Amino acid sequence: MARSVLCIVGARPNFMKIAPIMAALKESPLRGRLLHTGQHYDSEMNERFFEELGIPAPEVNLGVGSGSHAQQTAQVMMRFEPELDRLAPDLVLVVGDVNSTLACTLVAAKKNVAVAHVEAGLRSFDRSMPEEINRVLTDQLSDLLFVTEASGRANLLREGIDATRIHMVGNVMIDTLHRQLAQAIPARQTLGSFAAEGAYGVVTLHRPSNVDDPKVLAALLDTLAELARRLPLVFALHPRTQANLERHGLAARLEGAPIKRMPPLGYQTMLGLIREARLVLTDSGGLQEETTALGVPCLTLRDNTERPITLEEGTNQLVGNDPARIRAGFERAMGGARRGRIPALWDGKAAERIVAILATWLESRV
Ligand code: UD1
Repeated sequence: MARSVLCIVGARPNFMKIAPIMAALKESPLRGRLLHTGQHYDSEMNERFFEELGIPAPEVNLGVGSGSHAQQTAQVMMRFEPELDRLAPDLVLVVGDVNSTLACTLVAAKKNVAVAHVEAGLRSFDRSMPEEINRVLTDQLSDLLFVTEASGRANLLREGIDATRIHMVGNVMIDTLHRQLAQAIPARQTLGSFAAEGAYGVVTLHRPSNVDDPKVLAALLDTLAELARRLPLVFALHPRTQANLERHGLAARLEGAPIKRMPPLGYQTMLGLIREARLVLTDSGGLQEETTALGVPCLTLRDNTERPITLEEGTNQLVGNDPARIRAGFERAMGGARRGRIPALWDGKAAERIVAILATWLESRV
């Protein structure tokens, strides 16, 4: 009987990573199955991505939804355990660093089910980020660790992970980018008369450290309003950010500035926008990589990144959330920042490599 791989998704950034893996599993001797924890549930954070990225409907949706970290992680664990028993896969495959990633890994590892982690080894060295805790623990419990950049391997080796478990395969997020470029929705279709191609910036913010404290958020909004007078900005609002704008009455800070506020955007809309953008301002992990792959300047509104290759080889600069640093980074980018180069193995074939390694590994286990 074919060996089965149970793939886990929970939140929006997981979908771009799982899409090429499900497609490669379909072409392989392995049986790929999909389980959604339901961490993200709004349709613009969810169904839309499944349709655009051609991800098959999940066999199971645990319907976990939002909650505190403990509640969300515990709910995933409690609801995942009976499904894992029922589906009895040969391996559980998790991607990224969201709460669902860690929760499913913990359950599988304790039941002696093999775990593969895609996007392993990334480290911000900032334990105040929930994702960093999820990364460190998921990697400790995984049998196979697939890394996207050299720093990932070095971090894992330092944490005592056996070198034979680590595989440098490239970046599945960039597989999706390659596949979707032809379907990207032209920016002018999204922007109308708001701004011409190449003459706007794209903004996304959702990290608790940027959007939960009203003082920090207000200062960021004022800075964006100021920059927008130089370069019109398109601001795609994550539900957490939108909720905080409303809760603290901060939306007025953007009024009058050339800033186009939009709901969370579908993948093809976002890809079309960033491809033509003059620059991107973000605190997302994925956008740091996508802008590097596209050669578009990126200002990351964080003090650290778990993706250092985007600084060393790509187009990324770290500017934190201090207005003076953001302004200085903006000037550098507007002055014609380097286009960078594409990191090794970010070539659209990472998922194929992963599935080939999984097939050999599962075959070798009795
Ligand atoms: C999660 C991930 C983060 C990832 C982000 C991408 C963790 C710890 N964080 O953060 O790494 O970058 O997804 O979006 O797993 N909400 C909705 N609708 C939804 C989902 C969320 O309204 O479909 C709102 C709710 O108010 C919720 C809040 O967003 O309380 C936060 O959602 P949550 O899943 O806890 O974390 P994210 O901030 O989305």
